Amino acid sequence: MAEPRRVTLAVTGASGAQYALRLLECLVRADVEVFFLISQAAQLVVATETELQLPPKPQALAAFLTEHYQARAGQIRVFGKQDWMSPVASGSGAPSAMVVCPCSTGTLSAIACGASNNLIERAADVALKERRQLILVPRESPYSTIHLENMLRLSQMGAVILPASPGFYHQPQSIDDLVDFVVARILNQLGIEQDLLKRWGE
Ligand SMILES: Cc1cc2nc3c(=O)[nH]c(=O)nc-3n(C[C@H](O)[C@H](O)[C@H](O)COP(=O)(O)O)c2cc1C
Repeated sequence: MAEPRRVTLAVTGASGAQYALRLLECLVRADVEVFFLISQAAQLVVATETELQLPPKPQALAAFLTEHYQARAGQIRVFGKQDWMSPVASGSGAPSAMVVCPCSTGTLSAIACGASNNLIERAADVALKERRQLILVPRESPYSTIHLENMLRLSQMGAVILPASPGFYHQPQSIDDLVDFVVARILNQLGIEQDLLKRWGE
């Protein structure tokens, strides 16, 4: 049997927590093992934008998410911001793909300059150095020159900049439809089958 696929999902403090939660749900349904990282600012955004009360500690958060999304035992693993011994901190242990969704402009900047000051930044740095898939989902408006320069630099390094900017050509009827538009794009990038959105021309 093939090894279960693994993805690192990092959630940072840009608006759009719904994108991250829906993506997590879809990854679990697709039987993907998820290494889940969340910043302190993202915890605040989740509390502001959703009904969910996420426990702050990694172990409790893993248990909560496992129950909430009916994941297999061990399918969702959560690592703290200074857990340098976790698999995502090293090229030998990290999954082959990482998504930062949503990606704050602060984390975008830190990744662009290789700061590695917390586990999210380090995991992204590992993805870049190992030439692995790194998908960044920024949300800000308007973008400053700094944001645009950082996105350009990251794109030139091989990262995919996939902004949280849903289209309207599928005639969305709800906020969920808008969220699914962006999540479908991320799943397409990861090569994971999705039925949230038809591909163009289908
Ligand atoms: C409710 C809320 C919404 C925010 N929205 C955004 C946003 O859309 N984009 C962004 O770059 N930062 C946003 N921020 C600011 C970031 O959370 C802040 O810059 C933080 O330092 C990012 O830290 P992190 O990258 O470690 O998550 C928001 C903050 C809050 C509390």
